[in-house]
Amino acid sequence: MSTAEGSAKFPNWVALREDDGRAYLVNNTSGEIKIKGLGRFDASELLDGFSIGDRIKVGQKSLTIVDAALPEARRNMDRRAQTIGIKDSGFLISWMGIGVGSRVLEGGHGSAGLAMHLANVMGSKGCLISVEKRPEHATVGSGNMQRMAEFATEFPNWKLLEMDLQDAASEVAGICGELDAAIIDIAEPWIVVSDISQTLKIGGRIACYCPTTAQLENSWNAVEDAGLIVEFAGEMVERRWSKAAKGGVRPGNQPMGHTAFLLIAAKIAEYEEE
Ligand SMILES: C[S@@+](CC[C@H](N)C(=O)[O-])C[C@H]1O[C@@H](n2cnc3c(N)ncnc32)[C@H](O)[C@@H]1O
Repeated sequence: MSTAEGSAKFPNWVALREDDGRAYLVNNTSGEIKIKGLGRFDASELLDGFSIGDRIKVGQKSLTIVDAALPEARRNMDRRAQTIGIKDSGFLISWMGIGVGSRVLEGGHGSAGLAMHLANVMGSKGCLISVEKRPEHATVGSGNMQRMAEFATEFPNWKLLEMDLQDAASEVAGICGELDAAIIDIAEPWIVVSDISQTLKIGGRIACYCPTTAQLENSWNAVEDAGLIVEFAGEMVERRWSKAAKGGVRPGNQPMGHTAFLLIAAKIAEYEEE
């Protein structure tokens, strides 16, 4: 039952949140929709009379209606390729200085895990280019991005290039000029480092996402060969804590998973010949 009265009209997209954090994105339009985990219903009929912040019952589930935002989008995203998650996205964004108005390249786009985190901070003045060579991955990634664009307060100028990152440098340069940052998440980042670094402004940064040590070493050598300066090489370690049954808090029993080594390098001015 609705508890808030006289609240603002619903936005097009809302999230229905279970108490444990699971959430379902719902497009508030008329006509029957099917949402995995919730079943079939007409969203506009279901939500009629309710407001953001209300508790609502759908089938046996008791849910809170909240604004659709990045955490809910991430939990609901369609997945095909392995995605870059919060732990690594957050660090890359902060270290590389990506924010409102940034010009950023990311590839491979995959399921748009990283791209959604980037889009979330770049504002409507930002320019984001994604590159993906496999059409079936591009379809999944662009679906996730389009849905996010529908509910985001601000969304960057986003362009998806369905092509090989090895051939993308000149096209990328024509879209938003010199880049502030490029993040490479493909199996062999070192192959594209030299060309992609040409698209960066002086002071811009390139990052390689390297699940294995061999990828890290090859990428490290490649950025140095391209004249870039390595600023960070390492990994983010996440250790969650939980409440113990007999009181107190302690590190949880979940194993600490490795995701990838991150390599971040900056483009500096060339030395003048003496
Ligand atoms: C691990 S996934 C990327 C995941 C993505 N960063 C995310 O966070 O969801 C790697 C993607 O790179 C794509 N890929 C691999 N080599 C590529 C290349 N040379 N050019 C463009 N895309 C490539 C693959 O098809 C795959 O979708």
